[in-house]
Amino acid sequence: MFRTNYSAHLIPVANVAILLFLSATITFGKTGRSDFLPNDSCRAEALRCEYLVRPIGIDAPRPRLSWRLDDDRPGAQQTAFRLWVGTDSLAVAQGLGNNWDTGAQESERMRVTYKGKTLQPFTRYFWTVQIWGENGRACPPAPVNSFETGMMNQQQWQGDWITDTRNVELKPAPFFRKEFKIDRPVQSARVYLAAAGLYELQVNGRGIGDRVLDPTYTRFDRRNLYVTYDVTSQLQDGHNAIGVLLGNGWYNHQSTAVWYFHEAPWRARPKFCLDLRITYDDGSVVVISSGSDWKTDLSPVIFNSIYTAEHYDARLEQSGWAEPGFDDGEWKNVQVTPAPSQNITAQVLHPIRATEELPVKILRRINDTVWLADFGRNISGICRLRISGEAGTTFRLKHAERLDENDRADLSNIDVHYRPTDDSDPFQTDIFILSGKGTETFQPRFNYKGFQYVEVSADRPFTLQAENLTALFLHSDVPPTGRIHSSNPTLNGIWRAANNSYLANLFGYPTDCPQREKNGWTGDAHIASETGLYNFDGITVYEKWLDDHRDEQQPNGVLPAIIPTSGWGYHWANGPDWTSTIAIIPWNLYLFYGDLRPLEENYDNIKRYVDQITERSKDGLTNWGLGDWVPVKSKAPVELTSSAYYFVDASILAKTARLLDKTEDHQKYSALAEKIRKAINEKYLDDTTGLYGEGLQTELSVPLQWGIVPEHLRSKVAARLAERVKADDEHIDVGLLGTKAILNALSENGHADLAYRVAAQETYPSWGWWIVNGATTLFENWPIDAESDISMNHIMFGEISAWMYKALGGIFPDENQPGFKNVILKPNFVEGLDSFEAAHEGPYGMIVSKWRKTDEQITYEVTIPANSTATLFLPESSLLVNGQLLKEARGIEVTKKEDRTVVLQLAAGSYAFSW
Ligand code: BGC
Repeated sequence: MFRTNYSAHLIPVANVAILLFLSATITFGKTGRSDFLPNDSCRAEALRCEYLVRPIGIDAPRPRLSWRLDDDRPGAQQTAFRLWVGTDSLAVAQGLGNNWDTGAQESERMRVTYKGKTLQPFTRYFWTVQIWGENGRACPPAPVNSFETGMMNQQQWQGDWITDTRNVELKPAPFFRKEFKIDRPVQSARVYLAAAGLYELQVNGRGIGDRVLDPTYTRFDRRNLYVTYDVTSQLQDGHNAIGVLLGNGWYNHQSTAVWYFHEAPWRARPKFCLDLRITYDDGSVVVISSGSDWKTDLSPVIFNSIYTAEHYDARLEQSGWAEPGFDDGEWKNVQVTPAPSQNITAQVLHPIRATEELPVKILRRINDTVWLADFGRNISGICRLRISGEAGTTFRLKHAERLDENDRADLSNIDVHYRPTDDSDPFQTDIFILSGKGTETFQPRFNYKGFQYVEVSADRPFTLQAENLTALFLHSDVPPTGRIHSSNPTLNGIWRAANNSYLANLFGYPTDCPQREKNGWTGDAHIASETGLYNFDGITVYEKWLDDHRDEQQPNGVLPAIIPTSGWGYHWANGPDWTSTIAIIPWNLYLFYGDLRPLEENYDNIKRYVDQITERSKDGLTNWGLGDWVPVKSKAPVELTSSAYYFVDASILAKTARLLDKTEDHQKYSALAEKIRKAINEKYLDDTTGLYGEGLQTELSVPLQWGIVPEHLRSKVAARLAERVKADDEHIDVGLLGTKAILNALSENGHADLAYRVAAQETYPSWGWWIVNGATTLFENWPIDAESDISMNHIMFGEISAWMYKALGGIFPDENQPGFKNVILKPNFVEGLDSFEAAHEGPYGMIVSKWRKTDEQITYEVTIPANSTATLFLPESSLLVNGQLLKEARGIEVTKKEDRTVVLQLAAGSYAFSW
């Protein structure tokens, strides 16, 4: 317990008196920004379009443009803005937008939806924003930014879809090539490349950039993504060549596993469509397109499976295949083939790429043909091998998460759902055959794996040097937005492991694990979505995944348990405890970004979904679902947990209806939510004891967490939960759904110290148990020696990371001013932890909440970004001066609450409190 009756003092790090002049008047100039008094202490920064930096190839007719105010003066605020969009960068820089000029808007908003003249395809738009701060003083101009449209409309495509054969069983990946001439100076050149399958693009023999595994997985017969490349600097005068290597990806799944990927209704030999659009200096435009004049041949990639591995025979390399002048006389003509779907849209995502290269940590020679490399961490990705030897030498790279009792790579925890039909496609095992020409490099392009260990073997003796093998951590490269650091190394280890697992499970859609399945399991993803959003700028992936949801939803509202799916998942595991993603993900995006668009876009889908559950559960209860998956020992009734998610969905729908001014729906779904709440409480809650059901941890914490418990019984139910947890030796006894609720239900209902003790446990069952046993990622099951459900890289138990931001840092979005316009701060200075720091970079900038305890004092420091505010809840003792409540400190409003907390309303700035 920290001590309470000390001389308290509040030290505003910066002068909070600035709060007082927020109401000063603003004056606007008429034409451009030059009329304004410059104010060098502020500027607009972090300009984004569709949440990306200067994107090229976007299709959105009304893109979202956002910025931030960089101004660390206390109370800094945007009082007005004016935004210009145009095709002439100089004009835009001068405050003239030929496409859109918002005029001066007296507003604190920092994101607008484009509403100017209709955007044209293939056009670069420049934009900037003028901000006025307090007193109507203008900030210096934001440097001109840009975005570029792509096709906008699929009728713009000129190319044909092409492939090499109809044979889906043919193993080698096909090359495609075409040459063309350039006879005038080029101003700009873009490649638009849509594919069903995966591809690698080369222009004049070189790859473009560092993105890999494009395009990301979609329901291929309903939506295909295209990627735009700037290839201006790759083109040369005279002869040029463009080359495409096609991989199978999820489109032509040749490996066999229990989810029938190989029977996907869309399955076909991979295909692509490409337009290379060259704009010459003289303004003329030429488009080089995929079509019947392209040539094709088989490549050295003799087998590739997104699920298992890649095999490469370097003896089949054709040097210069994507360079001009290559002799393709022996190559075949391509086949023109139908488009895979009628919906070809831009891929608007942070690309998948290698974000880290890991050297071998420990290398062991097992015998003269086998070496074992340990990379020290579990990751998703691939390996790069550099080696030399005789032509035909065959290497195998077997990727594993763990070792067997003989210290050899062990796949038995992850190959359980794989159903190979022969031994030609070993699991997580690349095969590389040498050409014999000097030092050769192998790096697969159409596959990734989950691993920490790689066993490299060959069909003849060889020597492996550690520096010749490197692991590449691949994932959607979403920018980090969060940081946790505490005085407890185990807690820090859990946070890092959760980040590793979150990223290892992000490949343009959230997955369950990077090895055994790579499936877009819905339940895992909504449970982990707050962890994702506190730690990473993940909106683009979630918006894309919501598109996938709409593609998969049945007319009756039903969603499959895994998304995208080749058909599996409509019959099992797809109840509301899993597929509530359709409501929970857009709602969380609204809370974290303050952006209503995901809710608007999915409104009808959420509604159809909720209506479908209602169809099946007229009395307000449903037992449609899997329940508390992989529990420690006890399992709550499925009807209780599934009905809780039904309630969550109906509540989100009701709130969304209000936000979208749909009054009738608002009333209807509010009443439905109430009906569900009542039904749950009538059946499961005993008012006198405060117990739900038998009083298991999940039974008590799920209703607490989701607001189902009647207000007057909250503390009673919370007390029962605390007792239950203590009876369980202050360890968890929950599964997937319980992990979402247990820690929050405790810490948000007066039992933060206990929640911390549970979260920081280092003995079984706990997260810390994994960490003290060497885990660098989160596991799928609680015992480290469990016999089933034993992937070592699952994110589904990952809510604990979000909990650290919420319970210890106290950082919550405010539903009434979402996107951290106002931050709710409710830190808990828990017993047993000496210091803690959480930082989250929200749409307004970096929010920091940080505390430190000594025997004498608690110090709490907080930073609130410009143009946002915070409502801070502190223990009353923190503001006691000689036993009296310090009422007001230089403009900070202080309200006392009945439960001996004080509430402070803070403006932007940095503050330090100590008591
Ligand atoms: C997956 C889980 C998933 C579960 C649901 C497992 O195979 O890996 O993470 O949520 O199935 O049944």
